[in-house]
Amino acid sequence: MADPAVTILFEGQPLACRPGQSVAAALWDHGVKVLSHSPKYGRPRGASCARGHCMGCLMRIDGVPNVRACNAPVREGQRVERQDAGAVYGRPMQAALANTGHLLPVGFYYKWFTKPTAVAKLFMRAIRPVAGIGRLPDEAAWRGAPPPPRSRDLGRWDTVVVGGGAAGLAAVLAGEGRTLLIDDSRLGGGQRREALDLAAAGEGDPLAGLHRLRRLRAVLHERDALVAAAPHVTRAAATTVVGCYQPDMLLVRDATGLAVARADRIVWAAGALDQLGLFDDHDLPGVMGPRALYRLAGRDGIDLRGRSAVVWGHGPDQWLSAALLHARGAQVVLALDPTAAPDDDALATAGRLGWRLLHGVRPAAALGRAGSLAALRFDDGQGGARREAACELAVMCGRGKPVYDGAYQLGADLVLDPLRGGYVPRGAVAGRWDGDTPAGLRLTIAGESAGATLADLLQEVTP
Ligand code: FES
Repeated sequence: MADPAVTILFEGQPLACRPGQSVAAALWDHGVKVLSHSPKYGRPRGASCARGHCMGCLMRIDGVPNVRACNAPVREGQRVERQDAGAVYGRPMQAALANTGHLLPVGFYYKWFTKPTAVAKLFMRAIRPVAGIGRLPDEAAWRGAPPPPRSRDLGRWDTVVVGGGAAGLAAVLAGEGRTLLIDDSRLGGGQRREALDLAAAGEGDPLAGLHRLRRLRAVLHERDALVAAAPHVTRAAATTVVGCYQPDMLLVRDATGLAVARADRIVWAAGALDQLGLFDDHDLPGVMGPRALYRLAGRDGIDLRGRSAVVWGHGPDQWLSAALLHARGAQVVLALDPTAAPDDDALATAGRLGWRLLHGVRPAAALGRAGSLAALRFDDGQGGARREAACELAVMCGRGKPVYDGAYQLGADLVLDPLRGGYVPRGAVAGRWDGDTPAGLRLTIAGESAGATLADLLQEVTP
């Protein structure tokens, strides 16, 4: 790492980091992938989503517990600890629990020993330290600290669009009136824009044979430039919606704190989340989805040079992930699901760039060493023809899970559709739903949030 400018203290050990990195990324660069342990069985956890949506990276930072290390930027002198390192009963107790899990079903901790009160208190006192989380903040972390700033009022807008990817940008350009675009990415174009740019700049031009991804990149750039030039649009970048309140209010958070915005119409185009699929030990640190990779290899710039990475699955995110990893210097193994559509140009790209190919495989197990990923075991989907690929990073590219929480909070009528990855608006057509909520808000749900896939969006933008 050239000219490191920030030093953090990880469990007392000074580590040099790049300014602007998240704590999780800085630790990855120093080989620390186990950031926490699961509360019940003590299973190792790491940066899984890299977007603030899971609990894998909860750490104690500067004496404050349960801080998401993937969202916390490194700062000089910052104290970072795995907060479960001091679990009172330690790992042996959790290992014992893992072997007796059938005796401790989901929900046992709040369904059992609730009466009489004295027994409940004893039970809680005994069970809490097993988890090893929840130690209150250091006194220095809160004594004398200034009160949190009051939330700002961003005012009322004709339209608020949530999400700056292809669908969100299209909605902004199709809309009229004063429009606020809220996006958690730094750059316009959503979470894939930076990944596409980095891949295009990689050695050997990994995007050269991936025509639809090249087209997506061009479309995102075009739409972003049009949005940037539109006088009626205000962009709130690196801003996250943390709550929606009926009939028409959004609570958002950016680097300066909380703010509220109201709108006559809201377009919910917040995309999708990674789903890793089910296989043994799929929760090992080092196993992640493409969106987590885009964040870690893009915004955070983790060091991937010479690292072995498997990219399994099907669809355009698999190819973008492989291209991004190649551009960042990783050794790529491309493992194609039996359902992956044949694409001769893309396969020629894989051959040209020297990626190892595994055809027609499904993950059967993640194999670990020292708590994090060391290899993936595959079979043919029927339990036969087992193969293994050594790797310290595995990117699982299946169907994403639509981000529905904000639309639900605003009153949208959602239905569970496993074929479209989760909850989607009832009656959505071609990745879009328009209507009024019961509280009278004009609401549109678009793109992956409405059940579309990246492949659908690519069809839309490819002439
Ligand atoms: S919340 Fe940080 S990795 Fe998921």
